[in-house]
Amino acid sequence: MTIQTPGLRSASTDADTPAGVTPVTPAAPGLEGIAVAETVLSHVDGVNGRLLLRGHELRDVAGTLSFEAATVLLWAGFLPKADLARLTDLFAAARERASAALPAMCAAPTGLGVYERMRLGLAALPLAGDLHPAIAIAGAQPLLLAAAARLADGKAPLPADPSLGSAADLLRMLRGTPARPEEIAALERYLVTVLDHGLNASTFAARVIASTGADLGDAVLGAMAALKGPLHGGAPGPVLDMIDAIESPEAAEAWIADELAAGRRLMGFGHRVYRTRDPRADVLKEGLALLSPDLPALRKAEAIETAAQRLLARHKPDRKLRTNVEFYTAVLLDAIGLDRRLFTPLFAVGRTPGWCAHALEQQAGGRLLRPAAIYVGPDAG
Ligand code: ACO
Repeated sequence: MTIQTPGLRSASTDADTPAGVTPVTPAAPGLEGIAVAETVLSHVDGVNGRLLLRGHELRDVAGTLSFEAATVLLWAGFLPKADLARLTDLFAAARERASAALPAMCAAPTGLGVYERMRLGLAALPLAGDLHPAIAIAGAQPLLLAAAARLADGKAPLPADPSLGSAADLLRMLRGTPARPEEIAALERYLVTVLDHGLNASTFAARVIASTGADLGDAVLGAMAALKGPLHGGAPGPVLDMIDAIESPEAAEAWIADELAAGRRLMGFGHRVYRTRDPRADVLKEGLALLSPDLPALRKAEAIETAAQRLLARHKPDRKLRTNVEFYTAVLLDAIGLDRRLFTPLFAVGRTPGWCAHALEQQAGGRLLRPAAIYVGPDAG
């Protein structure tokens, strides 16, 4: 493997390269196997199917810590200790202040999607003031999401309730009524599960933007854009479409076989790093069972998962395409009663502390990320 320096330039030497010029080494088109940063935040062990957050196994954190407490764990070392100790209050203050972004969100054309309207709110969010920008942004996201969803449905946004935690207030602001404790626990588990995940595409985008010296709001906006694609955070909506299209557990095998024969990918399966089961899938599946042990949706999901894994193993025997986080994300969020248009926006809410932490880590120690392209076009000279 070629080891890359933090600026994504090759660390190898080349006798033909003039002094002072960095030699260019071709990388795989998807950059797999290229390390461009050192991080203390999270570690994705693709061989053993482990995810470490600040050294802790995900399964010990998700379902145990609140969204704010898990964020404290992730951010320890980046923010003042006094702020970390009262992060729940500061996130509540950030939600209240985020109402300053509502005029821009309300003025957007009708027909704009929830995610796009949420990004508009983020772009309009005031970041100057006594809140650290990471707190102002990550704390604001639940209000921006709820406001964007209500506006998309032609309803007025609701103000934040600072007495609640982020997950509880998010559900309340979406629906207009308080959520049940088990729904809040399930959403909290989801938000913590997706908090951070190594150098995935959106986090890489955040680090690239942060490395230019742009501010944290720009890094998170860019990360949100990268998250949206179906190969990344846009998959859970289509996962639910697939589950709906399969009429019964017994119909799963034939439906999936047809999809694969048609050359289509199964959403919610496969991963760039994991060669075994994505550990986040189990944490979310456990959350689903806690929410409602006899849920018919859980039985159907299990049947689809079993059939998909069997057929994928036959379809790509060398690839090990297993269940990823998005499969049980879709089933869990649907079981909480959340609309599929909210799935990618909710992923962004959960991942924002991770994006902020990576952007700050990049700015603290990194260099401008500026890789090379190998020119293969004509040369008129
Ligand atoms: N269904 C069917 N075939 C698949 C799937 C799938 N879910 N995933 C990969 N393959 C096939 C590809 O078609 C490819 O076949 P080919 O060699 O004949 O062209 C082969 O397996 C290797 O695929 P790559 O695209 O090289 O694998 P990569 O590591 O880039 O893919 C990815 C990872 C994008 C997640 C892929 O597995 C996929 O598209 N999955 C479906 C979408 C999805 O679930 N996205 C969410 C990912 S999790 C997250 O980002 C939060």
